[in-house]
Amino acid sequence: MVPRVLILTTFLNLFISNGLAINNKRFPSNFLFGSATSAYQVEGAWNADGKSESLWDRYIHTTPGFIEDGSTGDVACNSYYLWENDIAILKEMGANHYRFSIAWTRILPTGRNDVVNEKGITYYKNLIKALKQNNIEPMVSMFHWDTPQALEDLGGFLNDSIADWYADYARVLYENFGDDVKYWFTFNEPKTYCNGGYGYAYDPPRIASEGLLEYVCAHNLLRAHAKAYRIYDQEFRSKQNGKMSIVLDSSWFGPATNSSEDKVAAEQAFHFELGWYANPVHYGDYPEVMKTRIAARSAAEGRNQSRLPEFTEEEKEQLKDSTDFFAVNTYTGSLVSAIPEPGITDPPSRYGDMGVNSFQPDEWESTTFGWFKYAPWGMRILLNWIKSTYGDPEIVVTENGYPDYGGLNDTRRLDYHRDYLSYTRDAMDQDGVKVFAYTAWSLMDNFEWFSGYTQKFGLYAVDFDSENKTRTAKQSALYFRQVIKTKCLVDQCVE
Ligand SMILES: *[C@@H]1O[C@H](CO)[C@@H](O)[C@H](O)[C@H]1NC(C)=O
Ligand SMILES: *[C@@H]1O[C@H](CO)[C@@H](O)[C@H](O)[C@H]1NC(C)=O
Ligand SMILES: *[C@@H]1O[C@H](CO)[C@@H](O)[C@H](O)[C@H]1NC(C)=O
Ligand SMILES: *[C@@H]1O[C@H](CO)[C@@H](O)[C@H](O)[C@H]1NC(C)=O
Ligand SMILES: *[C@@H]1O[C@H](CO)[C@@H](O)[C@H](O)[C@H]1NC(C)=O
Repeated sequence: MVPRVLILTTFLNLFISNGLAINNKRFPSNFLFGSATSAYQVEGAWNADGKSESLWDRYIHTTPGFIEDGSTGDVACNSYYLWENDIAILKEMGANHYRFSIAWTRILPTGRNDVVNEKGITYYKNLIKALKQNNIEPMVSMFHWDTPQALEDLGGFLNDSIADWYADYARVLYENFGDDVKYWFTFNEPKTYCNGGYGYAYDPPRIASEGLLEYVCAHNLLRAHAKAYRIYDQEFRSKQNGKMSIVLDSSWFGPATNSSEDKVAAEQAFHFELGWYANPVHYGDYPEVMKTRIAARSAAEGRNQSRLPEFTEEEKEQLKDSTDFFAVNTYTGSLVSAIPEPGITDPPSRYGDMGVNSFQPDEWESTTFGWFKYAPWGMRILLNWIKSTYGDPEIVVTENGYPDYGGLNDTRRLDYHRDYLSYTRDAMDQDGVKVFAYTAWSLMDNFEWFSGYTQKFGLYAVDFDSENKTRTAKQSALYFRQVIKTKCLVDQCVE
């Protein structure tokens, strides 16, 4: 049910936001608008029906104070039991697609393919079937940070066997769901996962001796991606006709001034943040600037080889062109300036390796996350960078969203989606960037990792105290629903 008065007030001040004229050109009729969640953040049922512990289950249960409000994802939105309510709100919004993730531990409790948990298979089969019945395209992430604890005990992404464990898992997914899934994502936000999972806190002595473990995590994860992609190519694609990518997260980077040094610095930031993963899956190897800089700094540290691992020739072949389209999550951006070469530090740092300074100016509007400022114009910069660097790929925006502390009258979130979509439309229309889908993070308020339930990204509010975790549309959901229906960001569009 949508109160008409709410829609009308929403539409009153549509045209100008912070002086921005909203793009009034209708989106193409086949453009997909949808929303996203991930398994740990919404499903709950953390140990039900044969699911085993993931690294998040274990870490949260054994590390008091880790999550801001002391909460867990044990129940979350309870979507394992209430998934039909999720379908209902997707339908109400008219979503064209739903991006969700499969919990590895629900499918393979040991992490390996020796035991397949049929109840886990059934859960996702039901979800996928119901989405298709309602004309909502499933976009499926095979991994959204919830590594099986059984594999983490063996080193997780620092153990190079993970590429084979992951490939076996991927094959089980294609076998069971591949007939109905046309959009697959191997991994979600590997940069953030590898940094959060294997950054400084993980094992400082090991980092001092072996270098940044994030690079090792990234390396094994990329090897896993390539194997999963090639298995799909060789064994499933001809029958199942799906497409596959890896979801990369990136800010946009702009030069702080028009000096050529700052322009080079912004390019360098892009390569260290996005190119780190995007270059291997397009061109088969890390960006030259990463290889050169990390090798030089490793030598200066007295190491006999680069801290950045090297792919074998066979791995390079497997990685090259291992996506069918580009998938990007983005929230904010930074300005970048050139700095003198950072000194050698022990332990080494990614900042030193990157060798530039990025910052968000004070005058940009803050959101509830300190790192995260409201900077929608950069959407166009990011999309253009992807277009020009990776051969004009088709692009899906797999996440984009705005955090607040809750409430149904979420005007700033509404503005955020409208403004980012406006710059997306500009990029499509004026720069010829081939964006084919936009995915709002998130469908509903959920367990936001370190922030627990304090920070909200949902288009729908969730009453976490209620028996059925009642989902209620916010203003942003009503606006998004209108956009989906009309393919138009304002009240009147031109074709
Ligand atoms: C990596 O996995 C293998 C099994 O493939 C295991 O034998 C080995 O002990 C693991 N390495 C570490 C460091 O745990
Ligand atoms: C760079 O130059 C352009 C075009 O002259 C100008 O619009 C822009 O404001 C300049 N940017 C900075 C950061 O000075
Ligand atoms: C490089 O140094 C490490 C110890 O820091 C040593 O174990 C390894 O054998 C050396 N490799 C070569 C090729 O010299
Ligand atoms: C929502 O908030 C905005 C800005 O704070 C305010 O102008 C508007 O009246 C509110 N709308 C409703 C329906 O409460
Ligand atoms: C929760 O949902 C169940 C099943 O639809 C229903 O029977 C029950 O009354 C609901 N509880 C509340 C408090 O609405």
